Amino acid sequence: MTSVAKPNLGPLSARPVSCSRVEMTEMVLPPDTNQHGTIFGGRVLQWIDIAGAIAATRHARLKVVTASIDQMHFLVPVFLAEVVVLKSCVNFVHHSSMEVGVRVEREVPLTGERIHAATAYLTFVAIDDDGRPIAAPPLLVETGEELRRFQAAELRRAQRLAHREALRAMRLTD
Ligand SMILES: CC(C)(COP(=O)(O)OP(=O)(O)OC[C@H]1O[C@@H](n2cnc3c(N)ncnc32)[C@H](O)[C@@H]1OP(=O)(O)O)[C@@H](O)C(=O)NCCC(=O)NCCS
Repeated sequence: MTSVAKPNLGPLSARPVSCSRVEMTEMVLPPDTNQHGTIFGGRVLQWIDIAGAIAATRHARLKVVTASIDQMHFLVPVFLAEVVVLKSCVNFVHHSSMEVGVRVEREVPLTGERIHAATAYLTFVAIDDDGRPIAAPPLLVETGEELRRFQAAELRRAQRLAHREALRAMRLTD
């Protein structure tokens, strides 16, 4: 009898970035648009949050909540009946927190042309049944691109914490 070694995919064994990958495709319908006939920014944020939450959950296989969404920019307008493609994956894991990157592309349906429309970085936190933060599995970085994203996310986290600390110190001196 041949025995096949099963990978240990328990909640706390390291998981490759590829386990968390998400590609989500949406069509822009009339209720998604604003008075200019272009997509409503809040709808894009909703899709970003969903694509991010699925990626974080695929990585952790635990309940997750959105802790924060970093600064994001809408680069180009997206029009009614166009297609929006969202690609996300976990970039970095600290303890209970995970940074997820979401890239948004606008696809012109009749040509297939894709244009980068937005990028967002979100932090999700793994929680237990009582809503308390719990450890998420470590991230296994396998490619040079994944390493670049990991290091950039680590830098963003350090900047976020330094910024929060600076604001706290400023309030204490008020
Ligand atoms: C996110 C939440 C669970 C953090 O709980 P907390 O008691 O403040 O947790 P802690 O201060 O112990 O921090 C736990 C982790 O969250 C991270 N964190 C907390 N607030 C954060 C924020 N605003 N941005 C990014 N990360 C944050 C911490 O850095 C820490 O990460 P680490 O464990 O990897 O080191 C809690 O603030 C919460 O439930 N917020 C509401 C979430 C929500 O309702 N989201 C919208 C719907 S999903």
